[in-house]
Amino acid sequence: MDTDFVPFAHTPIPHFKQFTLVNQTPQIKALMTILRNKDTPRRDFVFYSDRLFRILMEEGMGHLPFSEEIVETPTAAKYVGLKFESKLCGVSIIRAGESMESALRQICPHCRIGKILIQRSEDGQAVPKLYYTKVPKDIASRQVLLLDPMLATGGSAICAIEELIKLGVPEERILFLNLLATPEGVEAILSRFPSMSICSIALDEKLDEQKYIIPGLGDFGDRYFGTD
Ligand code: URA
Repeated sequence: MDTDFVPFAHTPIPHFKQFTLVNQTPQIKALMTILRNKDTPRRDFVFYSDRLFRILMEEGMGHLPFSEEIVETPTAAKYVGLKFESKLCGVSIIRAGESMESALRQICPHCRIGKILIQRSEDGQAVPKLYYTKVPKDIASRQVLLLDPMLATGGSAICAIEELIKLGVPEERILFLNLLATPEGVEAILSRFPSMSICSIALDEKLDEQKYIIPGLGDFGDRYFGTD
């Protein structure tokens, strides 16, 4: 696989060609700082997560295929531009991924949205298991945006991607969008599915023994939905 290494937070982190980290502007860092702060109240956590999801969706759209489109402008001139080439479908991994659906709908109002439910076994092995899938019948002909804000070990995402591939979606038409990723998660996914793409707002250092992202932001679903 094609990799190189970039220094980040004192740790060498593998950077894969199919992995895009959004431009780390001061604005992105400031918004992420609010989410990472354990004292941020839920209302603000939701508000700033939603802002970051909007930015992530716009960035993700830039990775989709375009084709040439020629239009006539009000000055009777021709403009050679671009248009989106493919039909889209969002697929959220329940439950945290559902928090990203409204940002997708804001920029793509008619976008179909499917759902996948994966849960980990409680036998101490924490093996991800697929429980439920509901996606459009023609998903195999769509560009799929897989939605889950936290890419930790990559276990649930791999289970969801296997399901999408089983449903006929070509690997290269899957774009996984998340807020916070780990090198371990990125590597686990892209070493298995090297033709798909991942786009993240931030890349953290590692996982702890409980598989929480460090420094991270805690349990995203609990903080976003108020179940902590
Ligand atoms: N999921 C979360 O919500 N947080 C983590 O740190 C890891 C997985």
